[in-house]
Amino acid sequence: LWTMGSFLDQAIAEVREQVGDKKVLCALSGGVDSSVAAVLVQKAVGDQLTCVFVNHGLLRKGEAEQVQKTFKEKFKINLIYVDARDRFLSKLSGVSEPERKRKIIGEEFIRVFEDEAAKLGQVEFLVQGTLYPDVVESGTATAAVIKSHHNVGCLPEDMNLKLVEPLRWLFKDEVRVLGEEMGLPEEVVWRQPFPGPGMAVRILGPVTEEKVRITQEADAIVEQEIRKAGLYRQIWQSFAVLPDMRSVGVMGDERTYAHTVVIRAVNSVDAMTADWVRLPYEVLEAISSRIVSEIKEINRVVYDITSKPPATIEWE
Ligand code: XMP
Repeated sequence: LWTMGSFLDQAIAEVREQVGDKKVLCALSGGVDSSVAAVLVQKAVGDQLTCVFVNHGLLRKGEAEQVQKTFKEKFKINLIYVDARDRFLSKLSGVSEPERKRKIIGEEFIRVFEDEAAKLGQVEFLVQGTLYPDVVESGTATAAVIKSHHNVGCLPEDMNLKLVEPLRWLFKDEVRVLGEEMGLPEEVVWRQPFPGPGMAVRILGPVTEEKVRITQEADAIVEQEIRKAGLYRQIWQSFAVLPDMRSVGVMGDERTYAHTVVIRAVNSVDAMTADWVRLPYEVLEAISSRIVSEIKEINRVVYDITSKPPATIEWE
């Protein structure tokens, strides 16, 4: 009989056998897959595992703190937390073009990660949260890795690390069950997907510290209200976007000229296509009133009612 408990025992034994007494590295993103993979590998080889978490400053509000609390405090994982916010922000300064933003973030991420890996010395293995569908889609696990190199959070080929992929037999829902079984918090296990380049692809035009802060605040309100309505788990992704525009509004007897925020919520099975979510008006109302009253830089809230295709889920 196949149970998650027996899967876990076997996966742990396999990782132990593969890794022996060597050092293992893991790029922790805070997402479900890398989190579950990291905790599993720690159960197998303990202190031989070091996780590196790079805060590029484009995460959701509170996410960096949450990752440290979960992995450092709760699981006592060796965690190297790199605060690279200034580094990414200055590289992105004045850049508007979506693909250039992605490229800059991807390259900078690899540089930061390599620096940390070099400090550790003599690492032989790299943990990847590759899932079964990735393996099947691309033919081999290696192909899946090459494919995922286009994303932030994935690593350079020339480091010559052997891959540890303990989740390669599992589907996403099974990874979540496994995560719960190992005691990962609900916020990690049921986190909606988040793009590697983070807020950078949700802030149109040049990224600035202020725009990141506004977007994070608005995004946090969207998340809180969606959770409050009991909809968080059943929605594929819900978030705020900051377009590069201002409009006229009125506040008291003052005319304002401030940012517009876009709310986006979509359902999807595999992110290839997506349908916009018919959010209840009361939820939209709660989100809108809170955003304009709590974030002074915003005077208008709009809802994105486009599906994919022809739109994409993210705005960049
Ligand atoms: P789009 O916007 O192409 O997004 O409809 C499809 C899914 O992919 C996520 N996404 C990314 N994930 N790096 C990532 O790791 C990226 O550069 C990236 N761009 C989009 C997006 O959040 C959605 O789930």
